[in-house]
Amino acid sequence: MTAVPFSERENTREYRFNQVWTEELDEVFADVAKYYDNANYVASLGLWGWFRDSFLSMIDLESGQKALDVCAGTNAVGIAMMKKQPDLKVCAIDRSQAMQEVGAKRARQRGFEIQSTIGDVHRLPFPDDSFDVVTLQFASRHLRVIDVFKEIQRVLKPGGHFYHSDMLRPRTRFMEELHYAYLRFCLLFTSWIFNSGPAARNCRKYFVSTLSAFYSAQELSQLLSEIGFREVSSKTHMGGLLGFHKAMK
Ligand SMILES: C[S@@+](CC[C@H](N)C(=O)[O-])C[C@H]1O[C@@H](n2cnc3c(N)ncnc32)[C@H](O)[C@@H]1O
Repeated sequence: MTAVPFSERENTREYRFNQVWTEELDEVFADVAKYYDNANYVASLGLWGWFRDSFLSMIDLESGQKALDVCAGTNAVGIAMMKKQPDLKVCAIDRSQAMQEVGAKRARQRGFEIQSTIGDVHRLPFPDDSFDVVTLQFASRHLRVIDVFKEIQRVLKPGGHFYHSDMLRPRTRFMEELHYAYLRFCLLFTSWIFNSGPAARNCRKYFVSTLSAFYSAQELSQLLSEIGFREVSSKTHMGGLLGFHKAMK
């Protein structure tokens, strides 16, 4: 069987999810911002910190470097990078003002300053060759990834690295079904205990559907290579359900 080209798969993802991406997600994250970090902790059965620390252990940082966290949300990755390399200059971009307000507060409480830009990451408002490191965690399912990865490649300095972390399509059908069943349960549970508003409750089905239409770790490596990234490597956990990628410009 011939593999469907990534460009076609991206068109299908856009056709299925564009309405949520453009008309509903901002309202969802405006509602979720205040309890986002606690909800992730509960939904991951306390493993949230371990996910972040495992991802961070893969990220090489040097003194004086400049990093960009794409879809930064509440700045989980930016803060962790600054803890690891305190003189790092970190910029964050996200479309949600509410998520970034929580993120700025979290950074300040820890004595860090992260420069925030509110905007759509399909067009990064930064010059070519600006950053040594670009990160993207837990947001790719909401994006036209080919477009965003090309933008990330553009703003990276030659030799700079892109680090990606997300829930991916697991290796076996059994793991996939198990994961979706768990996700359905925990989205219901967290929306109940954190008293989610209607926008977030209505998107529960979307969150599972976007994952089932997303890529496996192997496919994501291939997609990064096709875009032109070099030395693409990946690490997976939990049967391929969680994947980290590293790629060089
Ligand atoms: C699940 S959160 C992940 C936040 C953070 N990276 C983390 O690991 O906790 C997804 C974030 O992506 C942002 N987002 C989704 N689509 C976006 C877009 N097109 N442009 C900018 N931000 C977007 C949302 O506003 C939200 O803050």
